[in-house]
Amino acid sequence: MNPISAGASADAEKPAGHPTAAPRTDPADRPMSPVGTPQARVEGPAKVTGSVRYAADEPMENLAFGHVVTSTVSRGRIAGIDVSAAEGMPGVRGVIDHRNAPRLNPEAGSFFGPDGGMHLLQNDEIPCSGRPIALVVAETIEQARAAAAALRVTYEEAPHDTGFSLDHPAGRPAVSFFGEDATIGDVDAELAASPVVVDERYHTPQQHGAAMEPHSATAWWEDGRLQILDSTQGPFLTAMTVATLFSLDPQQVRVRAAHVGGGFGSKSAGCGPQLVLAAMATTVLGRPVRVTLTRKQVFQAVSPRPATDQRIRIGAGTDGRLRALDHAAAFEVSKLAEYLENCTELSNTLYAAPAIRTRRTAVPLDILPPYSVRGPGATPGSFALESAMDEVAERLGMDPLELRLRNEPTVGPVSGLPFSNRNLVPCLREGARRFGWATRDHRPRRRREGRLLVGTGLAATSFSAGALPSSASVTAETDGTFTVAVGATDIGTGARTALTAVAAEALHTGPERIRLVIADSDLGPAWSAGGSRGTTSWSWAITEAAAELRSQLRGAALPLTVTADTTASLGKLPPMERHAYSAVFCETTVDPATGEVRVRRLLGMFAVGRVVNPLLARSQVIGGMITGLSMALHEEGSRDPVTGRHVNADFAGYHIAAHADIPDIEADFVQDYEPGDPSGIKGVGEIGTVGTAAAIANAVWHATGTRRRSLPIRLDRVLEEHPPR
Ligand code: MOS
Repeated sequence: MNPISAGASADAEKPAGHPTAAPRTDPADRPMSPVGTPQARVEGPAKVTGSVRYAADEPMENLAFGHVVTSTVSRGRIAGIDVSAAEGMPGVRGVIDHRNAPRLNPEAGSFFGPDGGMHLLQNDEIPCSGRPIALVVAETIEQARAAAAALRVTYEEAPHDTGFSLDHPAGRPAVSFFGEDATIGDVDAELAASPVVVDERYHTPQQHGAAMEPHSATAWWEDGRLQILDSTQGPFLTAMTVATLFSLDPQQVRVRAAHVGGGFGSKSAGCGPQLVLAAMATTVLGRPVRVTLTRKQVFQAVSPRPATDQRIRIGAGTDGRLRALDHAAAFEVSKLAEYLENCTELSNTLYAAPAIRTRRTAVPLDILPPYSVRGPGATPGSFALESAMDEVAERLGMDPLELRLRNEPTVGPVSGLPFSNRNLVPCLREGARRFGWATRDHRPRRRREGRLLVGTGLAATSFSAGALPSSASVTAETDGTFTVAVGATDIGTGARTALTAVAAEALHTGPERIRLVIADSDLGPAWSAGGSRGTTSWSWAITEAAAELRSQLRGAALPLTVTADTTASLGKLPPMERHAYSAVFCETTVDPATGEVRVRRLLGMFAVGRVVNPLLARSQVIGGMITGLSMALHEEGSRDPVTGRHVNADFAGYHIAAHADIPDIEADFVQDYEPGDPSGIKGVGEIGTVGTAAAIANAVWHATGTRRRSLPIRLDRVLEEHPPR
């Protein structure tokens, strides 16, 4: 029995009309490519009329609902769970905890480590606050929730360590998943010989992905396969992770994610707690089970971006040329799971210097395992580096724009590799022109409007680019349309629309003839909507399959399907520095009477490779700049040092920038093309976020004359340093 009701296909977007002509494949017949032209979201009408279904929306027969119970202590062990009251409550069908949960493969890891922290309900240990310790399953959500409240859990508490800093004695070299720590030249000698030295610490707090859609998974067994609907950024990665975790053959797991209401990294970790618990429950109870986290549980049990504590030392000559860059970055990890917040990425590639040293330190604590969020590594790293660069400009009395231009490298400063292409300078120059940077007085605290202090700032930024292995298949149908199947996900970014255009271009036809099928692990290996690499990775696979199909098509019997996998092509790429770039400019006001910082203008110029869809790409980089603003001024995951618990696990306490916080934002693209990609694509996912916080902090310095080296720039912090007078 398939509990999914009929007509609930993830990909109901059928091509308009029923063309009957043969497939158009002759170049002479090639319509203008939709790539590079603004295309409205293909699923837009379905979304705004409410007919798309997210993971928790799919109607299903015989569905039971699980409510998660989380630990209220931050370390220790479970002394007892009394289920007697809960089990007798209306509609309750079972309680799953460490005593009856299926055993998971202890060797199973996540994509980034030996244990992504997802070995739930395997023993009585409590490794951190908010840890899922039981699932109560009932006929309705309300019954499950009521029964969960009736569970009596007792603990043996143990002391916990949740306090983080660069100097924490447990700090150790981070396990590296991306490159090694860098050492070129003699950093100490260059620093000692530099006429200008900046040596400062920068701090960013824990941040949450905070996607609008809470994490939900529905799991059921059908014909010997574990069927899953999940809020995931990568159905294929999720299927592989579940297979390993539950010791299943990969063919036994199918994951679908038709529509995902935002990810921001929080749905990228392979397998979230909602899915581990739903898969366990359906295995124990033998019926479909849906587990949806509450908003509070999303904060408590889904991986956040770790707090970082970074020391940057920059030595520069009086001409503004860097002589040394020393970047030591510490970040928190959970004792449960490895992770690398790669804060030093930009320090390896953004500026030329004869001596560069980067060090990454992980501090293991009794906390929820951190993971990727919105430009992982680069975003907190950029805040530190681009703030420090502004401080160098300040000490030199130099235009911060000019400082960047003077330190533009010709090859990768650490790697020595050529850049595939590098259009940071055009972003800086064109952004400066549009923003009106030339008239800026670079001294701080010079502009006032009434009682408001006004300042401007900028930051340069890069984000690594490069496709990852994916497969796709393309079918020429008998009715003249093409079916394009790729295990992509559209997490709200517009991937369906972008891939439809790319497929149309690759098949020399119009988007109306493309039927795109995505969001299903059965479609074959595919990279996730993550790392700003979705569009480039999936497009490459589609392009390869389409080219092969076109070569086979003439005279062939239809339907004809061709499948491609990009692993081999990617392996042939020469090693190069591949990055997207941007320059962000900002104007802020600071009210010295209230401490309030308001961003008045944000302008971003981007070099992101070929822009597949200018309309949606612009939306995406603007969204990125909004989350950068949110990071600069608002977002701060807080733990109570006494209890170790999250104290602001909701949208009341954890403020995400809202409409009223957002100013006039301009974003545009410079001409760019990635030579290593068959379609010239880099990526637009995260580059908008990366530089924005530093640009804002630099503008706040320019307005007030005081550096903000700790995010967010809360008004109470501004008031501490600028008491009203
Ligand atoms: Mo993104 S933070 O790489 O999912």
